[in-house]
Amino acid sequence: MLRRTVLKGLGAASLCRLAGQAPSSTVAAPLEIPYGAAVQDGPLRGNAAYRDALTSHCQLLVGEGGLKWADVRPAPDLFVFDQPDRLLAFAAEHGMRMRGHTLAWYAAMPDWALAIRGADEAERELTHHIETVVARYRGRIPSWDVVNEPIAENPGLLSYPLRESVWQEALGSRYVELALQTAARVDPAAQLVVNEYDVEMHDPAHRRKRGALLDLVKALKDNDAPLHAIGLQGHLRGGMEVDRDGLSAFVSELAQMGVGVLVTEMDVIDKELPAPDEERDQAVAALARDFLSAICDGARPTAILTWGITDSYTWVPIWFSRDDGRPNRPLPLDVNYRRKALMDVIDSFRV
Ligand code: XIL
Repeated sequence: MLRRTVLKGLGAASLCRLAGQAPSSTVAAPLEIPYGAAVQDGPLRGNAAYRDALTSHCQLLVGEGGLKWADVRPAPDLFVFDQPDRLLAFAAEHGMRMRGHTLAWYAAMPDWALAIRGADEAERELTHHIETVVARYRGRIPSWDVVNEPIAENPGLLSYPLRESVWQEALGSRYVELALQTAARVDPAAQLVVNEYDVEMHDPAHRRKRGALLDLVKALKDNDAPLHAIGLQGHLRGGMEVDRDGLSAFVSELAQMGVGVLVTEMDVIDKELPAPDEERDQAVAALARDFLSAICDGARPTAILTWGITDSYTWVPIWFSRDDGRPNRPLPLDVNYRRKALMDVIDSFRV
């Protein structure tokens, strides 16, 4: 507490930096916060410049797809591990670690899985899935987004705060705990994460979502569920403001419960930001700085990942293409793999 009070007046980047320094020579300094990026399978296979960008900047990789149900389990008895195996081999070859995304999500479900009904079938399929996938990568994928996006869009307005999914309908909120327990049983050493988005901005819906997520964490910890960290996706909304106080308070409440944080999918949705490249890149970097500094004011994140590394390969235009027709610029490298201000901001928080 004293340490936090003392550090409060310092810039947030320096807080992370100071948090990373040993207070005395008897305590070893923690390592730099690892940086990583989400990877698309197509360019990983076909684009050498893309592979070089990943190997020169990243310590962590995660598949944009490949481990989602629709990819890994197209039929009830068919598991297809080609993509994650390829990514893991690439990561290992270049001394990087891989995160797993994701074991239980409402989206990217194959048709057969959307037809799962009733508690017995749901429990059987979810357990079998997690056992099979986590066992294959036991000891090789050290961190999992076990449950992705469990909170409803506007939880404060609903009697029930969890998002609708096959799992929630059949099992209620206990599916979250079931998924965590199953993963922990299969790989007790893995970092188990619940991953969520839209919890960081000054906006009533974000505040309600953050509150519902905190309630979920409290309920899980009350039941001794093996939850180790919250993944803050960080798909930041250009044109909105980070709720710095709300976000730091959230992160420090998590820390008090023994739950860490990591940034799992950061990018900046630049649909509403100014058109000129340089101005837009500065606005993108400033938003990321506010986000990371608010997190660091609460606790040191265990990793920072962006959802892609180059503006050439990003999911943002699928939902948020610009009205002026200019390409989105949400990521740390531009389409020519040149560093942008966003990469400098990320680096400044890692030390
Ligand atoms: C996205 C991928 O990037 C796209 O390629 C795919 O079409 C849809 O999913 N939050 C998540 C990710 O947790 O899994 C999503 O990834 C982006 C939003």
